[in-house]
Amino acid sequence: MSNPYNYALENQQRFLDEYLHLLKIQTISTQPEHAKDVAEAADWLRSMMLNIGMMSAEVILMPEGRCPLVLGEWNGAGEDAPTILIYCHYDVQPAEIEDGWNTDPFVPTIIDGRLFCRGAVDSKLHVMANLKAVESWLAQDIKPLVNIKIVLEGEEESGSENINAFIAKYPERLSADIAMISDGAILEPTQPSLTYGLRGIAAMEVHVQSPISDLHSGHWGGSVHNPIQALSEILAQLHDENGTVTAPGFYDDVIEVTDQDRELLKQVEPYLMREWNDVVNAPQLWGESEYNLPERLGARPTLEINGISGGYAGDGIKTVLPARASAKITCRLVPHQNPERVTQCVVDYIKQIAPPTVSVEVRPSDPKAGAVLLDVNGVAMQSAHKAYTHAWGVEPVFERSGGSVPITYECMKVADEVVILSYGLKSGRAHGPNENIYLQNFYNGIQATIKFIDEVGKR
Ligand code: BES
Ligand code: MN
Repeated sequence: MSNPYNYALENQQRFLDEYLHLLKIQTISTQPEHAKDVAEAADWLRSMMLNIGMMSAEVILMPEGRCPLVLGEWNGAGEDAPTILIYCHYDVQPAEIEDGWNTDPFVPTIIDGRLFCRGAVDSKLHVMANLKAVESWLAQDIKPLVNIKIVLEGEEESGSENINAFIAKYPERLSADIAMISDGAILEPTQPSLTYGLRGIAAMEVHVQSPISDLHSGHWGGSVHNPIQALSEILAQLHDENGTVTAPGFYDDVIEVTDQDRELLKQVEPYLMREWNDVVNAPQLWGESEYNLPERLGARPTLEINGISGGYAGDGIKTVLPARASAKITCRLVPHQNPERVTQCVVDYIKQIAPPTVSVEVRPSDPKAGAVLLDVNGVAMQSAHKAYTHAWGVEPVFERSGGSVPITYECMKVADEVVILSYGLKSGRAHGPNENIYLQNFYNGIQATIKFIDEVGKR
């Protein structure tokens, strides 16, 4: 008998070919020279939505945005049926072969059941797995018992201005009973995990200036507080020796790790420890000693120095006393930290510890997003649990993920329930060279979304 599960199995090769087509389009949202590619992908995705049986599909670009979103709707289940909103992003991070890729980053290459390409895991895997799951449903005579909206974002990797403006102006266009955010990673190829939290984000820059311009370090060295040194002194004071952030007020609104968290996250620890050894492989673990690895990664806020610049770092020597130095900082947030408030705490603290010998400017920057923590007993979560168990043949464990998908927090305002369905792996090297997925995860992801739609419809 024909059903969506069989349909997906029978069409695996075509689904894969379509996924490969999307991967070849260089949808790098941070680089203006790729705006044409982003537009091409948006158009292709709009046609794809109509081809798979969505009743409407449009490409939407707000005046505030740079990269369009694609929104499709199918409401054949009728007014009384629940609505699922499926969210994924189709933009990707930049990639250059020199970064350490073994293959051309925009030529999808399959080796031993793994597919290598920029965007393979983050997040075209999710875009295509969900579109193909919806196709598998809409191709049947018996249609799903839920209405479906699909929104595909084109600038998740670069600030989300477009979708933020859209949701603020037209919240009803994305309203749903359940918002399903599809992004992120499970634990291992054969061990799915169900993400019940994502961290938020706050960002800022520190600029230090000392002399009005670069000086000869022989003439003036010893009389001027070197701005790189001053910046290093500031940055070195942002954590204590335990790895705890020192800015007063930083932890004020943090929800402490609960007994339930401890219980759930204990099960994840051995998997994450293995991944840490494999992916991170630093000389030693670092961080807040009173929290274990899954808690540090998912349930605790952090402050990271993402980059510093200043002075001369080219070949040979240059006896210069540089005029300027700067650093970029982002914080990962947990519920109920407010991004503006946390930014203010850090800005105030840096101003307070800034030495009087240099001038220090601290500028808040984008993006800003709140963290989310989801109810593990909700209808959506229980349906997702069944979906993973069906597709992987193994029950998922619960995990709090450390990454951020800024729109998730906004979706909590337009949907009764939010759920996160992740089909990638941390070893998929999102944002890095040799980004990849196991092809089986793509096929399992399709089956999982089919089952998720089935389960929500049955409620
Ligand atoms: N796919 C990630 C988000 C993610 C990472 C979810 C790990 C779960 C686990 C997403 O594409 C991403 O990279 N988001 C950025 C957002 C930032 C630029 C606002 C992030 O987390 O750094
Ligand atoms: Mn990403």
